[in-house]
Amino acid sequence: MHALTSLLNALLRIMEADHNRASDSLLILCVVTFLSMTLLLGYLGNVLGKEIKPKLPPSPPQWPVLGNLPHIMRKSAALHTTLRLLGKKLGPIYTLWLGRSFPLVIVTGEETAREAFVDQGHIFSARPTLISWQYISSGYRTTMTTPAGAHWQKLRKIISHHLISPTNLARYIPVRDSEIQKLLERFRDQSRENEGVVHPLQQLRISAVDIIMRIAFGDEFATLDNEGRKGNAVVLDRLFQEIMDAGSIFQIALDSSPLTRTLLFSASRKCYSNIRTIAGQITDLVMPIVMERKRLLKERPLTEVKTFVDSLIMLKGDDALTDMEIVWNVVELMVGATDNTSHILEWIFANMITYPHVQQKAYEEVKRAMGPNLDRGLVQENHIPNLPYIQAIVKESMRRHMMAVLAIPRIASRDCKLRGYDIPKGTMVVLHAGALALNEEIWSDPLEFRPERFLNLDNEATHMHKMAFLPFGVGRRSCPGASMGLLHLHMLLANLIYRFEWGPESPGQPVDFSEKFRMVVTMKSRLRATITERSPV
Ligand code: HEM
Repeated sequence: MHALTSLLNALLRIMEADHNRASDSLLILCVVTFLSMTLLLGYLGNVLGKEIKPKLPPSPPQWPVLGNLPHIMRKSAALHTTLRLLGKKLGPIYTLWLGRSFPLVIVTGEETAREAFVDQGHIFSARPTLISWQYISSGYRTTMTTPAGAHWQKLRKIISHHLISPTNLARYIPVRDSEIQKLLERFRDQSRENEGVVHPLQQLRISAVDIIMRIAFGDEFATLDNEGRKGNAVVLDRLFQEIMDAGSIFQIALDSSPLTRTLLFSASRKCYSNIRTIAGQITDLVMPIVMERKRLLKERPLTEVKTFVDSLIMLKGDDALTDMEIVWNVVELMVGATDNTSHILEWIFANMITYPHVQQKAYEEVKRAMGPNLDRGLVQENHIPNLPYIQAIVKESMRRHMMAVLAIPRIASRDCKLRGYDIPKGTMVVLHAGALALNEEIWSDPLEFRPERFLNLDNEATHMHKMAFLPFGVGRRSCPGASMGLLHLHMLLANLIYRFEWGPESPGQPVDFSEKFRMVVTMKSRLRATITERSPV
């Protein structure tokens, strides 16, 4: 203010002064202007600088221009571990800079997760609009990708009413049972042909895909065109895996930062064109099925809706979805249901082989719950409440080998604070669920596989530490398919343990627990096991 007044006074003096003194005044004016502007800019820089530059959570040392990109771009299998260890060093919330201007905030602490995703859940329920996502979501129109708003609420409602309501889950019991029966037979055949050795993931994926395909598209699809369906299911499953590979953290870094896109122009073009190609192939496979269901519904209207796609086709008015929205919402659910279930079960069986006493205890529990069963009936959904140890094994495996280790990113929908730090609107925030699950201040010996910790209700895993075990994410955007996912995991595990004894590929051979990180953590080397059929009891 003072500088501006001086400038004004000098100007007035020029106007008042006679001609002889004008040049002196002009000189003075120049000096005063220069000094005033310097002071003014310094002052504004200081004041505004403090206002404009928010106090973000701490970050590791940054590279010039690249910020912390080298941390992310290093194609290390253990990126999630690097990020977890950074959390130990920097605290429960820290920033990674993707280039010098794009902050990515990582949450590794219990209280911070609660403050962000529960207490301020309304602010952190938005998703980033990643460029690659538009190709696999009919332009951000699927549950996972769409902005938090009316369309998203509608899609969540559709899932809870038409897919995972108790009535719907009950309707799919025959599908589940027949697919579990087929899985048991496939395992038995594979082991006979292969001197007892089986490939769990391969067989589990077939079941997971078949179950969700039949739920989504129906038995007509399964029986009318058996060969074609099988072909389609296999191709679709391969495409699902390619989509998951495309959605790596590398992809997110690429999508989020214009700098990375520029630096890696050719790699980014290749990535986007890959995703577009895969998306086109998926549309070409799924759209005809949706059209076929539409035709069937028109020809013989059903009094009772039979499949999930039927429910989507029959939505009316404001709830109605376009054909492309139907295709991509169904695909999203299919990917969620197949990839997670099969990989989690692969981790579970790796542990069953490594800890035979756990496997034995689980078998004893299922045997007790089933009672005499000479005709080899399947474990059913109503047995699950009597199988707390099976449930604990599933939980412990999901904790020890958290698959969705970095959940799915959110963004702050407005400026806010977290743990006292500034989080500007639009900042991408990632929950490191894996760091929480392995935090030694919460879990005793967190690297040990010990299902009993989920049976002890006194300390670990109690209500006090709800935020430490988040395999399905948290808050408004948490997984809407959690109950279905858990049900399938319990049913498959219980039946597979009940029917077979699981052992290593060759006697004494330890399981390789190395991890592979894409967007999720899976086993690096495919598990192989030997199975021995148990006698009926
Ligand atoms: C054991 C299996 C599963 C696991 C571990 C899992 C895990 C997750 C996680 C971590 C998220 C992100 C949550 C967040 O941002 O906080 C998520 C979201 C989602 N999952 Fe799952 N999921 C599983 C099964 C399923 C199934 C069976 C379906 C559908 C039938 C499904 C559909 C979805 C959808 C649509 C979203 C996006 C939700 C939204 O953005 O509002 N998931 N899942």
